Amino acid sequence: MSLGSFPSTRLRRLRQSDSIRRLVQEHHLHVSDLIWPLFVIEGDNIIQPIESMAGVNRYSIDQLVLQAKQAVALKIPAIAIFPKIDAELKDGSGKLAYDEDNLVCRAVRAVKAACPELSVICDVALDPFTDHGHDGLLVGDKIVNDETVAILCKQAVAQANAGCDIIAPSDMMDGRIGAIRAALDENGYQDVMILSYAAKYASAFYGPFRDAVGAGKKLGGDGKKTYQMSPANSDEALSEIAMDIQEGADMVMVKPGMPYLDVVRRAKEAFGVPTFAYQVSGEYAMLRNGVDGGLFHEDAIFESLLAFKRAGADGVLTYFAPLIASQLAER
Ligand code: PBG
Repeated sequence: MSLGSFPSTRLRRLRQSDSIRRLVQEHHLHVSDLIWPLFVIEGDNIIQPIESMAGVNRYSIDQLVLQAKQAVALKIPAIAIFPKIDAELKDGSGKLAYDEDNLVCRAVRAVKAACPELSVICDVALDPFTDHGHDGLLVGDKIVNDETVAILCKQAVAQANAGCDIIAPSDMMDGRIGAIRAALDENGYQDVMILSYAAKYASAFYGPFRDAVGAGKKLGGDGKKTYQMSPANSDEALSEIAMDIQEGADMVMVKPGMPYLDVVRRAKEAFGVPTFAYQVSGEYAMLRNGVDGGLFHEDAIFESLLAFKRAGADGVLTYFAPLIASQLAER
């Protein structure tokens, strides 16, 4: 780019009216960029507000289906389903994770039956199902990698059996993408996609989510730092993403979102594969509380999502998806 200098060049010239500003706009947010994460619980006709995430609810399956229909009506292309499992059903092994009749699998079957055109994403990780709240198996004080991967493979196949379109491993075990790809293929699921939470950081911004799914209160010690990445690293993120792509990930994700847009940019430039970012629960809560408390205008939400696009993301997982989709529809 070659720029002249003032006064012949006046960059404000292109900002003088709405029509010109729209004409030169570099990046756009579209409803097709949105993935809507939804929480599911047992029961009938239940809509349960999540205290730490104003405006976000947990839904029983029948109500979840209504939300899925809403997603279709708004033209949101995909939802991601997260379960809150009853405490008495959790154990040290997390074996409920691969039970074909667990809450997630039943939810996927119901949603796909009602909305076959909506893409459904499922998290692969043990944390909603383990009593200790870790994403993997705990032996002594260690999260054991390979034993965990074996269980994650069963979890992924159970979800694919239920009709899940996109398997999203969020556990950060080494080698899980290759193993899950092989397990899916062996079971005839060549077309089931993998969206890898490839660069997932050990972040304090997940606080409200752990409250929403009722996991993580008992983590103790290093928390998830022995498997999730240090917020100080970005070269390492590129290594994680490179490995996941090599092992068969169709799409990759950076998480959290807004504090990690530099990583999104580096990842997109380095690999050019479909790259998503997760505007996580803590980011949602900050924005929601800031708007609700009158600290800043609601436009901050749209601005935050446009920033993901500017950074190079192909799409964003955001709890604001229905709000933004309806705003976009009105434009
Ligand atoms: C579980 C998982 C987490 C999130 C998505 N999947 C929490 C964690 O890793 O502790 C966080 C999402 C959010 O904060 O919105 N593996």
